[in-house]
Amino acid sequence: MRIKNICCIGAGYVGGPSMAVIAKFCPDIQVNVVDTNPKRISQWNDKLLSNLPIYEPGLDEIIKKCRNKNLHFSTDIEYQIEKADMIFISVNTPTKTTGIGAGKAIDLRYVEASSREISKYATGHTIVVEKSTLPVKTAQTIKDILDATKNDASILKSKTFSVLSNPEFLAEGTAIKDLEDPDRVLIGGEDKEAMNALVKIYSNWIDKNKVMTTDLWSSELSKLIANAFLAQRISSINTISALCEATGAQIKDVALAVGMDKRIGKYFLNSGPGFGGSCFKKDILNLVYISNHYGLFDVASYWQKVLDINKWQQERFIELIVKKMFGTISSKKIAILGFSFKANTNDTRESPAIYICKKLIEEGAFLKIYDPKVNNEQISNDLSENKTTKWICCQTAYDALEDTDAGVFLTEWSEFEFLDWERISSMMIKPAWIFDTRLIVNIRKVKESGLNIWQVGYGN
Ligand code: UDX
Ligand code: UDX
Repeated sequence: MRIKNICCIGAGYVGGPSMAVIAKFCPDIQVNVVDTNPKRISQWNDKLLSNLPIYEPGLDEIIKKCRNKNLHFSTDIEYQIEKADMIFISVNTPTKTTGIGAGKAIDLRYVEASSREISKYATGHTIVVEKSTLPVKTAQTIKDILDATKNDASILKSKTFSVLSNPEFLAEGTAIKDLEDPDRVLIGGEDKEAMNALVKIYSNWIDKNKVMTTDLWSSELSKLIANAFLAQRISSINTISALCEATGAQIKDVALAVGMDKRIGKYFLNSGPGFGGSCFKKDILNLVYISNHYGLFDVASYWQKVLDINKWQQERFIELIVKKMFGTISSKKIAILGFSFKANTNDTRESPAIYICKKLIEEGAFLKIYDPKVNNEQISNDLSENKTTKWICCQTAYDALEDTDAGVFLTEWSEFEFLDWERISSMMIKPAWIFDTRLIVNIRKVKESGLNIWQVGYGN
């Protein structure tokens, strides 16, 4: 089966970059990315590439090359579903906020809505691919919705579907690199022909040995577990950061020494303010929910602890900041450096900065926030606070640090490595503190400039 027309529902952090890379390596395939949000689509179509809705290194070059050639962005969902041989579902899958499983289970309403649209408008044989991270057995829900059309007399009998799971493992900030050279591509399914059609697309740029095929449920569960294991490493190293601060051991050396053991590996051992992003918390909550559902209560509490430690790390930072600043931050000015959940992305979903900023405001501080890629509007939405009285957005790190009592580094943007600390020191209110939760600043230069510094895993 040769695929000529792909449709992707959801032009977000996953749908956008992953379809751009397919378009780049498959010039013979027309890739149509659709979204219900017209604002997002118009940003994807903006002539000025700096206005794309997603900041991701290398993405703008692909958009420049492929847009309006074999990569198209529109809100024309019905027509693009009708035309497509293969449809990717890349809509968001938030945690349920109300009803059964609220706060833990995944809200599948968008996946369900997309499946209904597909069942209604698809023609001929269509391969439906789950790209979003989903609870195990969601493919069954999609199948059930698609199959329901068979009983509808008004629908042509010739309409058929194959459902595949193809979870996306990209990390934001390195999405293009991860998509172009992934550790593996995972394809789950039952229909061999449909699976081969997807394998063939990836084989345009990925070594066949890296493409793994399996059944639907193993594929769905593997994505959830990969995220859970990654998050677990961060919580593990964050507990050790506190132990290092208490004992005088050096967190970077401990992480290096431990990670040099090949069985452990060197990645994902950077301690920081806890993991953020759209996936880890949501996926572990879901794992906890599923474990409880199957009566595996000890398994559930084991994974719950990974989340608890993540929150604990943030709580202890907030307490520490207040303590170092003579027990009160009321009416003090604090600079916040970095607001995104990690460097090289404008995404703030579940960013540790949101919780930490809200708590500092609650304690009475006035915040001067700077992030190289997150705009004022986004920060405003996240903090949902009266802007002028509690915080302001600044244009540079220097503007943010000017006339403040402390600077808190929350994201590891590389520009923070090269700050002029003499200049900063001359602008801050003394005695001033620098809190580095990401081990990003040049500690020697900060100390030489006469400022106090606390770093995660080192203390002061
Ligand atoms: C991610 C991943 O797909 C998922 O695996 C992960 O678990 C969390 O969300 P992401 O691309 O990061 O998705 O989400 P987002 O940037 O919110 O994009 C989703 C897009 O789907 C939005 O632009 C939204 O407007 C669109 N959408 C949502 C639709 O087009 N139709 C819908 O019914 C719902
Ligand atoms: C993650 C997975 O890595 C990816 O495979 C999956 O597809 C989606 O979820 P993402 O959330 O984009 O990707 O970013 P990731 O690089 O995993 O970082 C998540 C959070 O962990 C960030 O807040 C980051 O700062 C933090 N982190 C990461 C650490 O605190 N320490 C580390 O060593 C690594």
